[in-house]
Amino acid sequence: MKSISNLNGKNVFITGGLSGIGKKCALYAARDGANVIVADLDSPAKDATMAEIKKWNAKAIFIHCDVSNFNEVESAIAETVNVFGSFDVALNNAGIGGESSRIGDMTEKAWQDVIAVNLNGVFNCMKHELYQMSKQKSGVIINMSSILGKVGFANAGHYVAAKHGVIGLTQTAAMEYALEGIRINAICPGFVSTPLLESGGISQNAEVKTMIENLHPMKRFGDDDEIANVFLFLATEGSSFMTGTAVEVDGGYLAQ
Ligand SMILES: NC(=O)c1ccc[n+]([C@@H]2O[C@H](COP(=O)([O-])OP(=O)(O)OC[C@H]3O[C@@H](n4cnc5c(N)ncnc54)[C@H](O)[C@@H]3O)[C@@H](O)[C@H]2O)c1
Repeated sequence: MKSISNLNGKNVFITGGLSGIGKKCALYAARDGANVIVADLDSPAKDATMAEIKKWNAKAIFIHCDVSNFNEVESAIAETVNVFGSFDVALNNAGIGGESSRIGDMTEKAWQDVIAVNLNGVFNCMKHELYQMSKQKSGVIINMSSILGKVGFANAGHYVAAKHGVIGLTQTAAMEYALEGIRINAICPGFVSTPLLESGGISQNAEVKTMIENLHPMKRFGDDDEIANVFLFLATEGSSFMTGTAVEVDGGYLAQ
């Protein structure tokens, strides 16, 4: 009998770990005994969030890293290896919502901004993570895609394209590294109550909120705990035969 193992003593690198889903995953990893490396943009929440993670007696460090910047990502991963010795689990989670508009009205800047973070950012991370994990012959990568990595959504062409791209990168990397002890999977959350939805004006507008909640058969948004539990499963040996999947955690959104 094989039981689900935990992250005790593992080094877990999380981009966008200061807020929302990434922060909750960082707290779950810390509770599970992991060392946690939060790679994010600086934010006023930094000190309080890092203190919250350390409350679980975890070794935790913050590294300033804009995932859209190839060199900053390379340095962040090198620093992780320098400080902790190995690179066991990576959650490529940093993301932005972007300005809403139909494709014909979308500015080039709106397109480039979202692609830079949500797609190029995941490539930048995977490139450097896989280089390191390949040397170790071990590792787990989890990419944060979305239900919008599997279907379209009006007025979010940039976001939808980036999240579809993340699944393509996940599947391809899984094939390339399957024999090197490295597993790569994606998570596709439905709408989850986080600051991302607030910045997109969704949480505050009761009419829009209800309309989007009703797109999920469960008629509610997800909770970040419900995503963090799946992260933990994919990060540990309980999911040892899973690679190249894009797991839907969406209250039934994609079942329709
Ligand atoms: N909230 C949802 O409904 C939802 C649904 C599906 C997928 N997702 C995805 O989950 C991930 C996390 O989203 P969230 O809702 O927790 O958002 P959030 O806004 O709460 O957190 C995003 C984090 O990413 C960081 N970040 C943004 N740009 C960055 C950059 N260039 N470099 C490094 N860090 C950067 C932010 O500082 C923040 O800490 C995103 O990839 C998002 O697309 C969210």
